Amino acid sequence: MDTKDRPPATPATPQSIIDILYRVDGDKTKRPVHTIGIAATGYFKPSSVAPLYCKAGHFQPHRGGYHVTVRFSNGSGCKDPHDSWSDVRGMAARFTFDTKGGAKAQTDLIAMTLPEFFSSTPDDFQEFAWAACPAPYVAERPWRKFLDMLKLTLPLRNPYPNETISPDLGAMDFAERNDAAKPGVLEAASIGAPVCYLRAAYHAVHTFIVTNPQGVQRPVRFSWQPVLGVKNLDPAAPYDPAPHQGNGDSYLQDQLRHALVNSFGKDHPRFSLMMTIGEAGDALNDPARAWPPHRTRIMMGTLNIEDIVSDPDMDCERLSFNPGLLTDGIAMSDDKVLKFRVETYKLSSKLRKATPCPFSGAVHNDTQV
Ligand code: HEM
Repeated sequence: MDTKDRPPATPATPQSIIDILYRVDGDKTKRPVHTIGIAATGYFKPSSVAPLYCKAGHFQPHRGGYHVTVRFSNGSGCKDPHDSWSDVRGMAARFTFDTKGGAKAQTDLIAMTLPEFFSSTPDDFQEFAWAACPAPYVAERPWRKFLDMLKLTLPLRNPYPNETISPDLGAMDFAERNDAAKPGVLEAASIGAPVCYLRAAYHAVHTFIVTNPQGVQRPVRFSWQPVLGVKNLDPAAPYDPAPHQGNGDSYLQDQLRHALVNSFGKDHPRFSLMMTIGEAGDALNDPARAWPPHRTRIMMGTLNIEDIVSDPDMDCERLSFNPGLLTDGIAMSDDKVLKFRVETYKLSSKLRKATPCPFSGAVHNDTQV
């Protein structure tokens, strides 16, 4: 019997979740989710107020900025690119800087286009992932869509050309039964496709605790805002690759290459790193719950994206990010999902024989930190 034929056992483990996340149209030598991606390099310049809020190395003033590697991805675990399909997109960034002692340090910030996650705990996420395992596409008749709307339920979208399986029906069923999953599932079901990876906003979703030079600690959430503004493809118009200078359905990668070649010597595409400060009563340990919209937001700096990496295998496919790769001045909150991700990403990196995340500069073995 396949692991996906029966409900998963709890508690969830990194292995049990990874087994569920791999799709039938995925590739077990690659990432189980966010499988299709492209990496670029650039530099991050902290804003003048950033060091007042956080003592981390990459928020200290620096004329040239700090080196950053960023991987943009499609959230799906399908091994083939379907850039124009509605999907959550990812933006994983690794900042490199020198510590006061002169050693090299790194910190990761992993974000996606959903502002809230699907679940508050690893067990709930496992149940969600199991329910949302892609199943044969069920096309909804127009009258069914109409009934859905009367019941204030989101109607299922029509399949894309050649789309035979979809997670949507299972995900929506799960959300019907689980209130915590509703915001994330509804957003994901209607999220669409950006015109370019540079035209989406990405959210790190979890709460982190930042410490300033005086030792004051604050709960915060980070997100990247594109300086070019957010823009999606028109969902009503059939996809036409021509205006996107791309071929087939990998226009997001083609578009990024095009944007970077054309920015050479001019302004580079940029993202602002925004940090929202939580207040008493906010859901500090729950990535599925939004904070009120009128919280104080600090502009922590600007990421300038310059070049596509020269070695897509080593610097993109084999790269391993980890939400637990943090530096002095930024710490994890008590969010159970965030803590669970640390071991899950390490295991996933090991299973796909990638370069380990540099927690300890170790190679993949059982003694790695
Ligand atoms: C329990 C919750 C989660 C689980 C089990 C999970 C699992 C995974 C796994 C196994 C990978 C592949 C890692 C690798 O092989 O290197 C991955 C990648 C990724 N995840 Fe998650 N994830 C979770 C939550 C999240 C959240 C909350 C976000 C957004 C903030 C997120 C964003 C991403 C992104 C952007 C990537 C691609 C990273 C890259 O480009 O290498 N995930 N996830």
